[in-house]
Amino acid sequence: MVKAIEWRDGKVIMLDQSILPVEVKFIECADYHIIAEGIKKLWIRGAPAIGIAAAMGIALGAQDITAKNYRDFIKGIEAIFDVMLSTRPTAVNIKWAVERIKRLLKERRGESVTRLKELLIEEAKKIHEEDIEVNKAIGRWGAQFIKDGDTVLTHCNAGSLATGGYGTATAPIFVAMEQGKKIQVIADETRPVLQGARLTAWELMQAGVPVTLITDNSAGALMKKGEIDLAIVGTDRTVRNGDVANKIGTYSVAVLCKEHKIPFYVAAPLSSIDFSIPTGDMIPIEERGAEEVTHIFGRCRIAPDNVKVRNMAFDVTPAKYVTAIITEKGAFRPKDLKKLSKKSANIEGYRL
Ligand code: MRU
Repeated sequence: MVKAIEWRDGKVIMLDQSILPVEVKFIECADYHIIAEGIKKLWIRGAPAIGIAAAMGIALGAQDITAKNYRDFIKGIEAIFDVMLSTRPTAVNIKWAVERIKRLLKERRGESVTRLKELLIEEAKKIHEEDIEVNKAIGRWGAQFIKDGDTVLTHCNAGSLATGGYGTATAPIFVAMEQGKKIQVIADETRPVLQGARLTAWELMQAGVPVTLITDNSAGALMKKGEIDLAIVGTDRTVRNGDVANKIGTYSVAVLCKEHKIPFYVAAPLSSIDFSIPTGDMIPIEERGAEEVTHIFGRCRIAPDNVKVRNMAFDVTPAKYVTAIITEKGAFRPKDLKKLSKKSANIEGYRL
């Protein structure tokens, strides 16, 4: 599987996803500001992957804090938290990573600054490793929904590149294939920056998964012809009532699925579930620059100069369109998702 990010010899190595698959280039980051810039510019993207990148950025930045005591160290680290939190607003994974690191620092407040710096590196690596295991568990729970011979539609990229490895939406596909089921995937190209065409199609081909690329506006026609059996997508933030924020266009796919009686699944690690928000209208939606819509690869203009543009990066799919949310703890009907909220977080192996 392709690795989107790695901690190597005190530096962070990121695969530049903004130029894939035309160029395969790795960026070496020795400064946390470069990681923050990479998150903003989509060198690294996908909710779990940017959570991991933020944790690694914090660990990297911490090494340069010159503080001698805990209080001054915390002041320094809080400034790094703010930089990471200001990069992209929709995916909750950055906030999730920051909260986790804050808890660790609180628990270990008696340690020396040198030890705290080491602990932050260990924690960032742990967040990365755990994410891969979480994805595999999502795969085991999700594979039950895929039958031999099924065609699975996916939108955007919720694969290895968007995570620590293995992917969230792709994990049930990999597990179903390991179980011997013959499956094919249809990937929406995902305008405007084409994560489906550039990333999902590329990584599934490398993993040996049969994949067909379609334009976003083809999905409805294929559903009407009976050529899609189910849809699985990822999420940037799923909230308490089961509303799901994901890449722009996900809502349209979900509505089309309902019309054609096709199950619509969301693969959601707990790190992407925000129980502090009751409904989807409260999720902050990132709006990005016009040039993503007016140009391809920032170079080739495909719209009139100075045309007015609206570029919402994400949309919210209401819970009523979601068949199930597949987490590492099991698959949940949206209305049952709150069973996973803090008080009962030790719930294990929930089956629909
Ligand atoms: O703008 P992006 O490429 O970061 O958007 C990514 C998505 O919408 C993914 O579906 C989501 O982050 C889930 S990744 C497992």
